[in-house]
Amino acid sequence: MLENKSLVEDPKKGSSRRDFLKKSSVITAIALTPAAAVKASDLRLDEKFSDAIEQMPLSLQINGQPYQLKVEPCTTLLDLLREKLKLTGTKKGCDQGQCGACTVHIDGVRTNSCLTLAVMHEGAKITTIEGLADGRKLHPMQEAFIKHDALQCGYCTPGQIMSAVACIQEGHANSEMEIREFMSGNICRCGAYANIVNAIQEVKGGRS
Ligand code: FES
Ligand code: FES
Repeated sequence: MLENKSLVEDPKKGSSRRDFLKKSSVITAIALTPAAAVKASDLRLDEKFSDAIEQMPLSLQINGQPYQLKVEPCTTLLDLLREKLKLTGTKKGCDQGQCGACTVHIDGVRTNSCLTLAVMHEGAKITTIEGLADGRKLHPMQEAFIKHDALQCGYCTPGQIMSAVACIQEGHANSEMEIREFMSGNICRCGAYANIVNAIQEVKGGRS
């Protein structure tokens, strides 16, 4: 009787092919199993992997203290200060460069920290509202704001004070009009503007 050889399995070959198929299925099953995925997510492997790739070293001096940091390139200076370093005196208002609540000094220049990436300031000296006072002694501008009632809800106040200090340093506080013009990037919803001008004029005149 004729045998169709192609339909007859060599028992040895057949078993090794079955083994191979079995092993491949197991490997595939492990790869696709939700448990493996859960394990990877428990270990936060994706985050660790992306952190390793995305974090960049950054040295800053903030309020006189040196900081060696690792930050994602997309982190704004504002988020670095508030979220990572917990320097929450700098406020987030619009987060679009329109209200001035986030004003800090970078190498002495006032800047909206919501509009600039932290990694752009390697080696810079940053001053926030927390760095203005000398220990327990308030900065003259802080004293003047309190004296002149230049704050109501206080939310815009840190940014107003940082801009006010810079305004005098820049030589832009020679008249009420000039002060108003150079403070116009800082919005106060409570309308404390008249008192803010008074506070700045007093510090400018050295009368605080
Ligand atoms: S929060 Fe930066 S300008 Fe408004
Ligand atoms: S004091 Fe309230 S927003 Fe300025």
